[in-house]
Amino acid sequence: MRFPENFLWGVSTSSYQIEGGAPDDGRGRSIWDTYCATPGKVANGDTGEVACDHYHRYPEDLDLMRELGAKVYRFSIMWPRVLPEGVGRINDKGLDFYERIVDGVLERGMRAWPCLYHWDLPQALQDRGGWTNRDIASWFTDYTALIARRLGDRVENWVTFNEPSVSAWVGHEEGRHAPGLTDPRAAVRAAHHLNLAHGRAVAVLRELSPRAGVGTVIPIHKARPLPQFQERDAHLVPLFEDKWNGVFLDPIYHGRYPASLEARFAEHVRDGDLAEIHRPIDFVGVNQYFPSYIQQCANGAWPFQHADPPLYFRRTEMNWAIDGHAFYEALMFVKARYGNPPVHVTENGGAFIDVAGADGRVDDQDRIAYYREYLIGLQRAISEGADVRGFMPWSLLDNFEWARGYAKRFGLVHVDYQTQKRTPKASFHFMRKVIAENALPGI
Ligand code: FCB
Repeated sequence: MRFPENFLWGVSTSSYQIEGGAPDDGRGRSIWDTYCATPGKVANGDTGEVACDHYHRYPEDLDLMRELGAKVYRFSIMWPRVLPEGVGRINDKGLDFYERIVDGVLERGMRAWPCLYHWDLPQALQDRGGWTNRDIASWFTDYTALIARRLGDRVENWVTFNEPSVSAWVGHEEGRHAPGLTDPRAAVRAAHHLNLAHGRAVAVLRELSPRAGVGTVIPIHKARPLPQFQERDAHLVPLFEDKWNGVFLDPIYHGRYPASLEARFAEHVRDGDLAEIHRPIDFVGVNQYFPSYIQQCANGAWPFQHADPPLYFRRTEMNWAIDGHAFYEALMFVKARYGNPPVHVTENGGAFIDVAGADGRVDDQDRIAYYREYLIGLQRAISEGADVRGFMPWSLLDNFEWARGYAKRFGLVHVDYQTQKRTPKASFHFMRKVIAENALPGI
C-alpha cells in the first residue's frame, strides 16, 4: 500500500474560511460578507468575520502543518484584503500578511502554493457585475500581476482558481453560494469570463514568476444515473460531465468548449478568447468528495438535476455519499479525457460529528475510514497509470463551511470557536503516519 516515491503530501485551506480578521488592517468586503449578511442564506447566521482567527494565529497553524509532515501548503489570497475595491488602491498591510504566510511556510521547510481566487470576490467588483462583466478578465489580470510581483520569487506553484465551476453554476445559477444569482444565462457568461481570466493570468504568471508552475483546480464529477433509471437517464451523463468538467478543462487542454455546449457559449466568446485560454498549464488540481448522481429534469435550464444517491451509501454530515470508487473514476476520467496530465489532488475529506472525549481528544474514526477508502481509490488510479503526484486533505482546520456555516467540520484539527483552541484529531495522527510512511498503514 505504498505511494510513489516523491509523492507530494500537502494540506489545503482557503482565506474566507479561516482568516477572520475582517475589520483588521484595511481589508475590503467580499461577496461572501454580503451573502452572509443576507438573512436566510447561511446556516445559523454564521459569517467569516472571525472564523479561525488565522489572520492572527497563523504561526500556530503553520506549526501544525509542519507537525503533520505536510510538504506543501495550498492557501488562498483574499482579493479584497490586498485590493479593497478590487482594483486601484493597494492595501499594503494585506500584502504583508501574505508575505508573512509565504515566508512562514518556507521557514518551516514547506512549499507555498497560493490560490488566487477561492470565491471571495471584492464586493466593489460585484457591484460592477462581477464575473458577468467581461472587464473582470483585466481586473483579475491586474490583481494577479500585483501578487506575482510581490510573491513570485518564493512560490513553487500558483493555482489560478479554486472550482470555477462552483462559482459559475452554484453562485450564478443555483444561487446557493455568493453572489446568489439564479440566472442560467449569466452563469454561462460568468463561466466564460472565469476561463478567460484564468488564461490571461497564466500569461502574467509566466512572465512575472517564471520559475513557478501554474495550475487550476476543478472538482471532477463523473455522473451516474440512479440505478432504477439507468436506461432512461444514461444519455444525460455526457452533458452533465461537459457542464461540470468540460466547460473548464476542454478550453485549457483542447482549445474549445465541448461540442454539446458551443451554442450556449457562442454569444459570450470573442475571437481570440479560446487561444488565450488554451495556454499550457503544469498540472490540474482535482477536488473530489462524493459520487454525483443525476436524474432527468423536464423543465429547467438543463435536462438533468442532482439526485439523491442510493440509500446503500454511508454519508458524511454534508449528506454526501462516501464512495472511494467515485474518486478513482474521477481520476481515470481526467487521464482519459485530457491525455493523462499531471494531477494533484488539492482537496478531499469529510465532515463528521466530532465529539471531544472527557480528555479533550477527538477520536474521529469516521474520518479515518473515509480517508482510508479514498486513498485506496487513489492508489488504484495510480496503479492503472494515472499521473497523480500529490494529495492534500481538506482541511487542516475545522472552518467556515460556506452556506453550511461552522456546524460542518472538515478539519484534521478541531477548533473550539469560543476559545480558538486547536486540538489535533485522531485523523491528524492517522494522516501524519500516512505521510511519514508514504503508505496506507494496515488495519
Ligand atoms: C469545496 C471547496 C472548499 C470546501 C470543500 C468542503 O468545494 O473548495 O472550500 O468548502 O468543498
